[in-house]
Amino acid sequence: MNKLLEIKNLHVMYKTDDDNIYALNGISLDIDKGESVGLVGETGAGKSTIALATMRLLPDKVSFVSNGEILFDGVDILKNRTEADMRAMRGNDLSMIFSDPMSALNPIHTVGEQIGEVIGFHFPDLKKDEIEKKVDEMMEMVGIPAERKIEYPHQFSGGMKQRIVIAIALACRPRLLLADEPTTALDVTIQAQVLKMMNNLKEQLETSLLLITHDLGVVAQVCSRVAIIYAGEIIENGPVEDIFDTDFRHPYTNGLFGSIPDLINKIARLSPIEGLMPDPTNLPVGCSFAERCPHRKEICDTEKPKEHYFDKHMIRCHLFAHLKKGGTKDE
Ligand SMILES: Nc1ncnc2c1ncn2[C@@H]1O[C@H](COP(=O)(O)OP(=O)(O)OP(=O)(O)O)[C@@H](O)[C@H]1O
Ligand SMILES: [Mg+2]
Repeated sequence: MNKLLEIKNLHVMYKTDDDNIYALNGISLDIDKGESVGLVGETGAGKSTIALATMRLLPDKVSFVSNGEILFDGVDILKNRTEADMRAMRGNDLSMIFSDPMSALNPIHTVGEQIGEVIGFHFPDLKKDEIEKKVDEMMEMVGIPAERKIEYPHQFSGGMKQRIVIAIALACRPRLLLADEPTTALDVTIQAQVLKMMNNLKEQLETSLLLITHDLGVVAQVCSRVAIIYAGEIIENGPVEDIFDTDFRHPYTNGLFGSIPDLINKIARLSPIEGLMPDPTNLPVGCSFAERCPHRKEICDTEKPKEHYFDKHMIRCHLFAHLKKGGTKDE
């Protein structure tokens, strides 16, 4: 079996005093062994909720998985794993990186102690000097001299701190890395370096990657497949080359591409998508994107669009019912 992660029809709701927030509304998403998938969508679309659900780190009491399965290596972690199983899996099987490195690092311990702690937890039989050797290896791997392991987080630049977070996340060679906006807090040149490094490590360690980002440019650099999420639904999913090199795509994705500055053709103004995502406490009965869609038809307001497949490329939009790839009508 080649699938490492299979999320099937996942529904997650957050409950606040006044409202039910429907954050994920039937998400299905697979990641193969060694595959890198980009997950792209606007703020509030549900990206972090997918990653937290997969780590089983959704906040207690306020979040509810009302339906769906998350299979890791064929086992449903929502039903068939205990909290102790999950603790052992986190770091070893799946690991998560957040966008703010300081939230992941402890200011009062040296970075070497923090990398070593993770290694020690997952490999309790290792002796002290063996752990130290692994710490040195991880530091060098992310491009920081091992001598600096005795320094504290505040002694490193933002980009270096994020590299250390990545070293911690990869220290036990997880099979799946969930990277939630890992480079958003960094400036553009450092961002490129960190992405390049993640790419190299991923190939060296054969890690599968779910890369969460607002930025389609970042996806193009790192991923072979991209899933677009809107109001808690995957509305498009397919190989990067199918989605980046054509305009045969969901109107929302077209809008996302319209908001990337085009440096070659020097388009003076960006055309961001007008309007806002629907209120997650009160989602429309039809297509969630209809309100903002330039191609809105009657059916878009009354029926949820189904998934339409064009080989490995899925588009969830009424416009694509009965279409063949290239835009011609099915007979
Ligand atoms: N702990 C929480 N309590 C209540 N609502 C929440 C909580 N966490 C997330 N939400 C809501 O769930 C929805 C999805 O949020 P999520 O954080 O998954 O979005 P996101 O795509 O990661 O956004 P961003 O790009 O801003 O990080 C949003 O409407 C958000 O307000
Ligand atoms: Mg988020």
